[in-house]
Amino acid sequence: MKSLGLYIHIPFCEKKCNYCDFYSKEGNDEDLKSKYVDALCLQIEREAELYKNHIIDTIFFGGGTPSLISSRDMEKLMLSIKKWLSVDENAEISIEINPKTVDFEKLTTYKKIGINRISIGLQSTDDEMLRCLGRIHTYSDFLSTYKMVREANFDNVSVDLMYGLPSQTEKMLLDTLSKVLCLDIEHISAYLLKIEEKTYFGKIKDKLSLPDDDTEYEMYIKMCELLEENGYNQYEISNFSKAGKRSRHNLKYWKSEEYIGLGPNAHSYFDKRRYSYKADTVAYINELLKGDLPEKISEEQVECISEMDEYVMLKLRLSDGIELCEFEESFGTELINKYPSIMKYVNSGHMKLENGKCYFTRQGFFVSNYILSDIL
Ligand SMILES: C[S@@+](CC[C@H](N)C(=O)[O-])C[C@H]1O[C@@H](n2cnc3c(N)ncnc32)[C@H](O)[C@@H]1O
Ligand code: SF4
Repeated sequence: MKSLGLYIHIPFCEKKCNYCDFYSKEGNDEDLKSKYVDALCLQIEREAELYKNHIIDTIFFGGGTPSLISSRDMEKLMLSIKKWLSVDENAEISIEINPKTVDFEKLTTYKKIGINRISIGLQSTDDEMLRCLGRIHTYSDFLSTYKMVREANFDNVSVDLMYGLPSQTEKMLLDTLSKVLCLDIEHISAYLLKIEEKTYFGKIKDKLSLPDDDTEYEMYIKMCELLEENGYNQYEISNFSKAGKRSRHNLKYWKSEEYIGLGPNAHSYFDKRRYSYKADTVAYINELLKGDLPEKISEEQVECISEMDEYVMLKLRLSDGIELCEFEESFGTELINKYPSIMKYVNSGHMKLENGKCYFTRQGFFVSNYILSDIL
């Protein structure tokens, strides 16, 4: 049996954050959310045959805000997954939750249905900053949610943070990090704020006083050092974990392993094909309720050359980088022959080529987008 990751997109948020471009609908329409879960169950049932030779070893409920789904519907969804698909008994099953959108009862339901990893969106411990970001919660709301998560006996918890925020200083970031470090959380994701055109921040970007590139770089380096000193290994550009607590599901994306994504705007990589569904929740529900399957878009056969670029781009996001032998075996050519400009960045200290591997240094990670567009 081949292993397969399953991503379920939950496209609902109580309120859109000022920076976020992920596909989700604002509001709390209980009827729509239940219909959406029914539609997901129908898709799982109708497509089960396609995955009969696969075993699901990671499941990720991502969003949007998956914790806005009721306990009843989460149970229904998990029952359907387990009924129609083969799920490994040691599967990593994660859910993203927002502070203030779960209670103890919901968390015990998660535990009961087999969810074993919780990812909480915090972003910052500074209440003024949380308001500026348009978050629906305060730091103290986060602490209450976190306490409940531990009381419900979850021992694999991750927290999302952001840096490079409007008016944020290095001191403010270090303050957030030191508060989070006191909690001894298993996993931390820390993202550099990206201003997305279509968001509120995108519209007012000239008025935002964002840290300059040098300050962002200093923040990044200090953050990595502090996390490392406290036992967190940086295994991907924005991801840090305690030993044995890397996100198995997200690693599949970066290692070009197979996964299927269900729901509007969810992406899949299955049978050497990458495809996604239209970002339209109502259309997604209607197609399934009508008896059809949602239309797959951007469906394309991954050709050898783009598959190679994709492999390099994804693998280099990981601190382990690319195994030179594995690359040669997969593509029949040497990495350096194919991408000679890598040497320029090895010489400048942004990349390393040693012990049979090619990988970014910490400095290189920070400018990896620029370097990748050059070398590919
Ligand atoms: C898909 S969101 C879902 C998490 C959950 N809904 C929450 O907000 O708590 C995952 C994470 O992406 C990060 N994120 C979203 N938009 C971003 C942006 N424009 N720049 C940097 N990070 C972003 C945030 O840290 C967020 O927690
Ligand atoms: S960051 Fe999370 S809560 Fe905020 S809009 Fe994006 S998905 Fe929704």
